[in-house]
Amino acid sequence: MRRYFLKTFGCAMNSSDSERIETILESIGMEKTEMVENTDVVLLNTCSIKQHAEDRVHGFVHNAKKMGKIVGLTGCMVKNSSLQSSEIKDPLLKKYKKIDLVFRIEDILKLPELLKSFDPTLTQPELPIDELDYLNITPKRTEKYRAFVPIMTGCDKFCTYCIVPFTRGRERSRPFEDILAECERHVLEGVVEITLVGQNVNAYFVDDSVRVPLQRQTDFATLLEKVAQIPGLQRLKFTSPHPRHMGDDVLEVMAKYKNIARTLHLPVQSGSSRILRTMGREHRIDTFKKITTKARELMPEITITTDIIVGFCGETEEDFQKTIKLFEEEQFLVAYISKYSSRKGTFAESKLKDDVLLPEKKRRYDVLNEKLKETSQNENKRIIGDIEAVLVEEVENGMAKGKTHTGRTCVFSLHSSTFQKIPTSCVGKIIPVKITGSDVWSVMGEEIV
Ligand code: 5AD
Ligand code: SF4
Repeated sequence: MRRYFLKTFGCAMNSSDSERIETILESIGMEKTEMVENTDVVLLNTCSIKQHAEDRVHGFVHNAKKMGKIVGLTGCMVKNSSLQSSEIKDPLLKKYKKIDLVFRIEDILKLPELLKSFDPTLTQPELPIDELDYLNITPKRTEKYRAFVPIMTGCDKFCTYCIVPFTRGRERSRPFEDILAECERHVLEGVVEITLVGQNVNAYFVDDSVRVPLQRQTDFATLLEKVAQIPGLQRLKFTSPHPRHMGDDVLEVMAKYKNIARTLHLPVQSGSSRILRTMGREHRIDTFKKITTKARELMPEITITTDIIVGFCGETEEDFQKTIKLFEEEQFLVAYISKYSSRKGTFAESKLKDDVLLPEKKRRYDVLNEKLKETSQNENKRIIGDIEAVLVEEVENGMAKGKTHTGRTCVFSLHSSTFQKIPTSCVGKIIPVKITGSDVWSVMGEEIV
């Protein structure tokens, strides 16, 4: 058993965790495959935020089993690291006999031991003892030019609809020095873009023992500034912050350092303060707007993106119209819109009524998506004629694609002198681009030489 296939569902935190899984498996001589057909073991790093996310995982398990593979799960669907033969088994293993093993992501180091029960010849990893905290395992970077660095995990907010505090546990910050050391190492190795990740990145505390869960002031601004100061780091991003901890200090650091991307992802969830209250979100629409106004005052070029849930318990047409109005006022560049999905164990599931019927949720989703097309198009149009720095992710037939410093997707033509060299060597480079046109979801331009 030497080959593994790893699929990641969900957020940036899961992607970052997957890179640590790769380190462990490669340290015991296993090799990654790109196709399920060619593998021995299929590992799925799961997400349970919505029922739909879990359904996709089960579909994958079903197909992998049909091909006769060993199937293992980690991530947010897993509670206890165990095997089908274990005495104390995770509920998932009891319910789904097709799954062979599950492990909590904090227990990555137990993965080789679990796999050994399928192949006794597998070795154990030789890792320093301080790597017992899984975040200290050096990630195997899948891309040379950008890296996701976890700075905290977990969530103390308990929004009434959300399963994350139950799956990821309480907020826990990584030591300041470990984060800085990891970022510095990445930059020395040629990384140009770092994204700081966590369920509530701006709930970062240098010393967790003095953490007051709902305290507004945190140490995130200090950390952000230190990382921004790393010589040679060209672009710094973070995701996802919580409006509660988005103080002026964070915005001021963003404004001060030009290498911090000019885009702010700020999940609002609803445009109605009444719904925000039943969601257990601590912010209201006026406090949300104070943040975006300040951000735009300090950085007029900034784009704002958000997360929205439509059809939450008790959401009326009037509430929904307030969300549409918020889109018009805020001109979001991107919004991740979800239909409310009841999650077992949450406050909303047990105490509130999931009373917006699915066809109505779908209608609100479609209406809001149309509104988003308008606001996104407006935001993209806003920079025609400007010069933007684009980090190239793909190159094909003389055209490059990547993200601008303001978070827009940009497709542009490479100058013939660049193209005649080795065009694919542009991947991972930051190139100045004159923006000449725009579309609903992107801008177009030409490389400037
Ligand atoms: N139903 C629908 N969407 C949800 N989200 C979180 N929980 C649920 C749920 N139960 C969305 C929120 C969050 C994003 C990561 O997923 O918008 O910000
Ligand atoms: Fe879930 Fe709310 Fe925590 Fe975000 S802040 S992870 S939505 S509980």
